[in-house]
Amino acid sequence: MSVLDKVVAAITPSESEDERRRAREKAGAVAANCDWLRLILTHHRAIEDAFAQLAAASDANGRRRAQKWLATLLNGHSMAEEAVIYPAMALGDQKTHATTAYTEQSGAKVNLAALEGLDPMSQDYIDKFEHVRGAVMHHMYSEEDDWLVDLAKTADPALHARLAARYAEEFNRYMGPDATMP
Ligand SMILES: [Fe+2]
Repeated sequence: MSVLDKVVAAITPSESEDERRRAREKAGAVAANCDWLRLILTHHRAIEDAFAQLAAASDANGRRRAQKWLATLLNGHSMAEEAVIYPAMALGDQKTHATTAYTEQSGAKVNLAALEGLDPMSQDYIDKFEHVRGAVMHHMYSEEDDWLVDLAKTADPALHARLAARYAEEFNRYMGPDATMP
């Protein structure tokens, strides 16, 4: 089994709701002085909302619409991180974290693509959706509890200014001018 296969198959995160909340608060405190982290936290919250919208959709059309928005947002966010933030981690002292981050996001892309091939009213679809949601929640927890906070604490104002501009540039390049956050 390849590393990617293992990530695609991985299930339920081990952290609790309480641990996630504490990580979000910790990252939020650091983000008060870090523009790129503040924007990323905004996008993490939007991703959580997109998952909740899909979970609440009760018919096939509603699920497909919510799934499309979720995939668009998740791809825009993840590609901006992959182009800008994870390279900064890898070029600093977080090479292992960067490798894990890339692998986990590749797994999420595979599983999101798998959703497109499933009947949105089937149990397989619901199972796959919950699998993706758990994996992405765990990934965001790792970013907020550790990886991104460590990078944000790097004492290099020029680096942070560049990361803020470049993350926004890459996110907007994918999302386009018409994409509006719900
Ligand atoms: Fe993220």
